[in-house]
Amino acid sequence: MLPELITSIPGPRSRALATRLRDHESRNVTFLSPGFPVFWQRAHGTNVWDADGNRFLDLTSGFGVASLGYTPDVIVQAMQAQAATLYHAMGDVHPTEEKVELCATLSKLTFESWSVGSGKTILTNSGSEAVEAALKTAFVATGKPGVIAFRGGYHGLGYGALTVTGNDFFRSRFSPQLAEWAHFVPYPSEHDPRDPLECSREMEELLRAALQRGTIGAILVEPIQGRGGEVVPPEWFLPLLRVLADEFKAVLIFDEIFTGFYRTGKRFACDHWEVVPDLVCLGKALTSGFPLAACVGRAAVMDAWPPSDGEAIHTSTFLGNPLGCRMALTALEEMERRNLAPKVHGVNKLLRAMLQQVQGHGKPWGAIRGRGLMLGLEVVDTHGKPDSARAGRFIESLLAKGVIILSGSPERNTLSFTPPFDLSAEEIAFVGNALAEAM
Ligand SMILES: Cc1ncc(COP(=O)(O)O)c(C=O)c1O
Repeated sequence: MLPELITSIPGPRSRALATRLRDHESRNVTFLSPGFPVFWQRAHGTNVWDADGNRFLDLTSGFGVASLGYTPDVIVQAMQAQAATLYHAMGDVHPTEEKVELCATLSKLTFESWSVGSGKTILTNSGSEAVEAALKTAFVATGKPGVIAFRGGYHGLGYGALTVTGNDFFRSRFSPQLAEWAHFVPYPSEHDPRDPLECSREMEELLRAALQRGTIGAILVEPIQGRGGEVVPPEWFLPLLRVLADEFKAVLIFDEIFTGFYRTGKRFACDHWEVVPDLVCLGKALTSGFPLAACVGRAAVMDAWPPSDGEAIHTSTFLGNPLGCRMALTALEEMERRNLAPKVHGVNKLLRAMLQQVQGHGKPWGAIRGRGLMLGLEVVDTHGKPDSARAGRFIESLLAKGVIILSGSPERNTLSFTPPFDLSAEEIAFVGNALAEAM
């Protein structure tokens, strides 16, 4: 449904809540300004209602989580039934059937479906922890501590994940505490105007130089960069990583936390290139809205871990939470049942056409990037340079028109469109008008 604004944005209730939050939450967490934020009260489908009763159209899926939309009946029912039965167990000691089912389902949807045997899983509470589980697995499997990671990549902000996140905004304040086992390499873009052969040779040289040192045990990559600004790599990129990982006996880790589960138009972004990783990190849409993520690996790689002798060397209190597992099982079944690939393709066409029309007005609009329902539109200044201040003003002005959107890319100048998959043609047209007015 289209937005409907009852009060000015933010309304009085949101402003009062912001004042209280200012007093009681660490001030680095929630951005507070006269035009930001609104406080969410409920959500359904593509809509969010705030504490003042305003209805918004959400183009973020709440950080890429609500691909199926908010509060779909099947998930709510599954949650309610599970909550009434069991909502906490002993994940690594006395677990639940839900955990068994989820691990088996993740194997089926990944490595079994890629026809390379079965997969084994480590469940975690956040995407950041799933990446850290993958990094530990790679080290256990290879004995080599080094990791090749990519500039612009985002893998989370726990110390392990931050070590491999290629964005100085998040790293620089903590650099004295960051271990130095990550080797950063530029992430290539399909929009690079240079000769693809030359680019691939250059990349191969860089990677070989790092791998030849003999200390690299993992290559960690987002098959399409999400928070890095919806950057799609060239055709040669993932196949090259696969070949080099095999040659140098490094573990190839795909971080599909954002791109997974049809966000880019296929079940996984790596399916666009038919390249199979050794480990894959999943999260966000996996549960449709519970803090649960996963690192799934080829059984042979995962079996480098020793069996638990009664004390796991990698676990956590809430591992395999039954409510999260039940939600994930329901969300996964629903995502497969709904035949989402053609759906995402159809909505992508409409959204891209609208963005192209907006872009046709010239500056401040720059490139359109991305795949499926992970699209980005750059905001640039009169010289064509990234304009993050203006992108920020667009975000506030769109909010005032009832549209929730975020910016991405290291320069923070890309408007990111990662909506729930049910975004309608009417809603897309509304966003097009809002963007034109915001200009
Ligand atoms: C690709 C990718 N990896 C990892 C993460 C971290 O996940 P979390 O915020 O759940 O720790 C994110 C979050 O945006 C992400 O986009």
